[in-house]
Amino acid sequence: MIIRESKGLTFDDVLLIPKRSSVTSRGDVDTSSWLTPRICLRVPVISANMDTVTEAEMAIAMARAGGLGILHRFMTIEQQVRQVQRVKRAEGLMVENPYAINQKATIQEAKKQMKSYDVGGLVITNGGDELIGLITQRDVLFAPDVNAPISSVMTRPDQIISVRPGIAPEEARRVLHENRLEKLPVIDENGRFVGLITAQDLIKHEQHPHASKDERGRLRVGAAIGVQAHDLDRAGALLDAGADVLVLDIAHGHADHCIRMVQTLRTNYPKAQIIAGNVASADGARDLAEAGADAIKVGIGPGSICTTRIVTGFGVPQLTAILDSVQGVRSAGLETPVIADGGIRTSGDMVKALAAGASTVMIGSLFAGCEEAPGSPVIRDGQKVKVVRGMASLGAAISRKEREREAPDESAENPEDWDKVVPEGVEAVVPYRGHVREILYQMVGGLRSGLSYGGAKNIRELQTHAEFIQITPAGIRESSHHDVRKI
Ligand code: XMP
Repeated sequence: MIIRESKGLTFDDVLLIPKRSSVTSRGDVDTSSWLTPRICLRVPVISANMDTVTEAEMAIAMARAGGLGILHRFMTIEQQVRQVQRVKRAEGLMVENPYAINQKATIQEAKKQMKSYDVGGLVITNGGDELIGLITQRDVLFAPDVNAPISSVMTRPDQIISVRPGIAPEEARRVLHENRLEKLPVIDENGRFVGLITAQDLIKHEQHPHASKDERGRLRVGAAIGVQAHDLDRAGALLDAGADVLVLDIAHGHADHCIRMVQTLRTNYPKAQIIAGNVASADGARDLAEAGADAIKVGIGPGSICTTRIVTGFGVPQLTAILDSVQGVRSAGLETPVIADGGIRTSGDMVKALAAGASTVMIGSLFAGCEEAPGSPVIRDGQKVKVVRGMASLGAAISRKEREREAPDESAENPEDWDKVVPEGVEAVVPYRGHVREILYQMVGGLRSGLSYGGAKNIRELQTHAEFIQITPAGIRESSHHDVRKI
């Protein structure tokens, strides 16, 4: 039996020793970092694939702020695909394949579709690539007969003002203004309809200059999948819908079936970006990296809602888990990025995780209180709060059971035996925290300051210069505000 003697450390056990710095302004530092070898984020933060944290709304807000959201997987493939599509359509100079409606549909049906897709207009095509009409909210809002066909109110081809592909944003802006339009179809030189530019998209394009975007100018988004055979279908559907990265979501990622899944995905989808985890050891991180994962997610039990360590006795304090995992990957001669997942409560925790070698951090509970997280706030003891729950909590298991009842998943090989759930997570409430961009602003501000204290212009330099010092409980007490009453 091995008993490792060196202590397992977590964020509160250490501080970083300040280094000589040439940084004169917090604005001079670069906070960007690699999520995977092909995805660089200006803000090295991703939101957790938890059903109380990341659905489309959170993913959109995260990408706009320069981070990225990972959609949870506890929904049908179709629902998850739809969430990816929502993010992909949220921004971008031109929407490709905008939502279309048949010209025989009624005004009522058009209204319903616009509401369900949350869009202000629909295109009418001939089923191929010819545009035969355009219908917007304005056309249907006060229509006296909602059972009339949309052809009676739509804008007809001879009235449509269109532009050519490749138009510059400023030019699109001018055409929209001069003609007082909100939607501008893009039609190529052969008369083929290729997409739609909307006034809203142009505005968003200008409002979020640092957003995380793909090569087609759409917001980036990740999506979680499981490791069973039917998850390959899910992976294919998510990638087809435009997901930028897949996250293999499994509590104990250092497992043969997880390694096999990484290898299978690598073979079937050579270009896909794949994050695998979770692990908390050098061996675990190395095995997943060698299997072909593009990033390794690290964290067994550090999360605020996790009880894995209590229930199973397994886990590694998070700072040590990060240090070990990075060392495991590097010892195999690989540069695979490591994601520190769980236990991040402050910007200081994030700086420590990055200094220890993580390239990005994943955050759950801190974001669960945000406006963009699923669910509405409630008042508890006079305070506005939102619910957060571990994905291995009893509540999450019961929800999965209900969903399974409503829409049995024929492809699932091992449906959970719901009556015998052993929870490894809890349900809780967190204070309502407003918009996630405000929290990220504070986190990035802390990171910028942290880089300056570390004598570093970027995260790579922070890691190179990092020197941790272990502290005592007295040191921890001294680190927070003390001997004053906080107001
Ligand atoms: P934070 O601390 O940011 O952690 O809320 C988020 C991470 O916690 C993990 N997670 C769980 N771990 N039981 C666990 O042991 C659970 O029920 C559970 N749910 C989420 C997950 O890695 C997440 O990103």
